[in-house]
Amino acid sequence: MAAAEKAQSVEVCVFLLVLIVSSCQSLFYGGKTFKRELSVQLNPDASPSPSGFDLLHVRAVGQNDTLHYLFCSQGAPTLLLVHTNSISSTVKVNWTQFSAPNSSGGLTVEPQSSILYSSAVVFSRLWEYDDVNDTAEATSEFFPPYELQDFSWAHLNLSGTTSLLCGTPPNTINGSLCLQLTAFDSEGRVELWPRLLHSANSSQLEVWLDGLLPRGNHSRFMLELQAVGGAYPLSRVDGRQFIDDEFTPSIFKMFQWVSSMNGSSDILGFVQWKPVAYRKSHPLLEDATPCRHSDPRSQSGKETAASSGLIRAFYLDPAVVGLNVSFGLAGEPFYNKTMFLSWTMLVGVGAPPVDSFSPLVLTIMVVCLGTPVILLLLGGVFVFLYKKRQAATTAYEPIN
Ligand SMILES: *[C@@H]1O[C@H](CO)[C@@H](O)[C@H](O)[C@H]1NC(C)=O
Ligand SMILES: *[C@@H]1O[C@H](CO)[C@@H](O)[C@H](O)[C@H]1NC(C)=O
Ligand SMILES: *[C@@H]1O[C@H](CO)[C@@H](O)[C@H](O)[C@H]1NC(C)=O
Ligand SMILES: *[C@@H]1O[C@H](CO)[C@@H](O)[C@H](O)[C@H]1NC(C)=O
Ligand SMILES: *[C@@H]1O[C@H](CO)[C@@H](O)[C@H](O)[C@H]1NC(C)=O
Ligand SMILES: *[C@@H]1O[C@H](CO)[C@@H](O)[C@H](O)[C@H]1NC(C)=O
Ligand SMILES: *[C@@H]1O[C@H](CO)[C@@H](O)[C@H](O)[C@H]1NC(C)=O
Ligand SMILES: *[C@@H]1O[C@H](CO)[C@@H](O)[C@H](O)[C@H]1NC(C)=O
Ligand SMILES: *[C@@H]1O[C@H](CO)[C@@H](O)[C@H](O)[C@H]1NC(C)=O
Ligand SMILES: *[C@@H]1O[C@H](CO)[C@@H](O)[C@H](O)[C@H]1NC(C)=O
Ligand SMILES: *[C@@H]1O[C@H](CO)[C@@H](O)[C@H](O)[C@H]1NC(C)=O
Repeated sequence: MAAAEKAQSVEVCVFLLVLIVSSCQSLFYGGKTFKRELSVQLNPDASPSPSGFDLLHVRAVGQNDTLHYLFCSQGAPTLLLVHTNSISSTVKVNWTQFSAPNSSGGLTVEPQSSILYSSAVVFSRLWEYDDVNDTAEATSEFFPPYELQDFSWAHLNLSGTTSLLCGTPPNTINGSLCLQLTAFDSEGRVELWPRLLHSANSSQLEVWLDGLLPRGNHSRFMLELQAVGGAYPLSRVDGRQFIDDEFTPSIFKMFQWVSSMNGSSDILGFVQWKPVAYRKSHPLLEDATPCRHSDPRSQSGKETAASSGLIRAFYLDPAVVGLNVSFGLAGEPFYNKTMFLSWTMLVGVGAPPVDSFSPLVLTIMVVCLGTPVILLLLGGVFVFLYKKRQAATTAYEPIN
């Protein structure tokens, strides 16, 4: 029993050491040394600028690869991410073709052979339902959805590597839906909650709804996302649990919608979010509201291509998987309380960033767990020595 105990305590100790070392590593080295060179272009090589929509291109060049982020408001807002294994890959747009409402193939990334992976997210619909019984169940009565492809989208407002796109529903003047894309050159967190950890291989998209008049007396909203891919679209959603909520108070979960080759554990690309939305633009803790998502479902590629100019232009045969993110649970205030909702996600390639334990939590763990472990270890060693001495005594006995 003592031996088992000792083995256990050694295990715990090794686990702790590994944890501390890896956390310290990620604190001091991880990702921080890896930097990408960012450049931003609005409507690349277009003359004149397209009318009625914008196309943003962010190039993020690494040591021997490039990420191309393309963000477009032709139809439903769409973010396309293309990963190439070359530092000189380029985006070519045939503007005549790209601007035509029914033609495909207007945008290519060249050389085609350098493309390692691509995926896109289309913000297709905003669903509203009247939650009369305050159950927050999607069985409630739905209003006709807002088709985001029908919104009037203003010009992209560009500042640095952040771009803001706002649109209003047809025939309304009150309220807007905005999407703000921020690309990053290295690891870090933005100041605003949920303070997701990003890397140089991901960018952040914040979506908010502001001042749109609710159509019901108990309105709640859902946002429908369509993930589009070539060979390997985003397919499954994985959940991850935390014990540390230092960066996103009261939230202990993270979800990631991932793409992998034939279900293997190597992740090619991801969309990542914490299940929380905020009811104010500069929220306090009480303005947080939980979110849920539905299971990803296969969708019609034709319909998605028809709704988004960027999808039509880049994908010849898009594979589409969709899900709904719904804001608010039973008992939570309805949308009318603040007439505001914001939700944030990260889009990137490779393995999604993982929050390591913060220094505060590490210290607490070391103090709380370390002391008993040392005592256990000492106990184990003592018992071991004692047993060994006893065994030695017994072994000598027959000789005497
Ligand atoms: C980002 O991508 C580059 C190139 O693929 C890779 O070397 C690096 O480890 C990645 N960084 C993170 C934080 O995933
Ligand atoms: C890209 O660069 C990384 C480190 O800079 C290296 O580990 C990797 O092998 C390179 N990949 C290719 C395909 O050259
Ligand atoms: C752009 O597309 C149009 C229509 O498909 C085609 O006629 C034209 O030649 C293309 N332009 C270039 C530069 O490829
Ligand atoms: C696109 O629509 C226009 C007018 O609606 C039509 O003239 C043209 O032939 C169509 N092009 C394709 C490729 O379907
Ligand atoms: C609300 O509850 C009432 C009484 O339980 C029920 O009759 C009604 O169908 C419910 N309405 C909805 C939209 O679920
Ligand atoms: C663009 O964004 C900046 C900063 O976010 C803001 O000050 C400015 O008013 C915006 N411009 C327009 C036209 O919305
Ligand atoms: C809608 O917007 C108009 C113009 O900004 C304003 O006068 C009106 O009060 C708004 N309606 C509501 C219900 O807020
Ligand atoms: C909302 O409530 C008001 C007053 O309680 C009522 O007159 C109105 O019919 C309700 N609207 C809906 C869509 O239920
Ligand atoms: C994935 O599966 C497809 C068909 O099921 C197969 O053609 C392909 O080679 C597989 N890819 C890998 C990397 O195993
Ligand atoms: C989102 O929810 C609406 C309403 O329940 C449903 O009609 C739609 O199919 C859902 N979309 C996805 C992608 O599951
Ligand atoms: C929101 O709607 C609910 C249900 O109709 C009502 O009780 C509440 O007073 C409304 N809140 C605001 C701020 O209008």
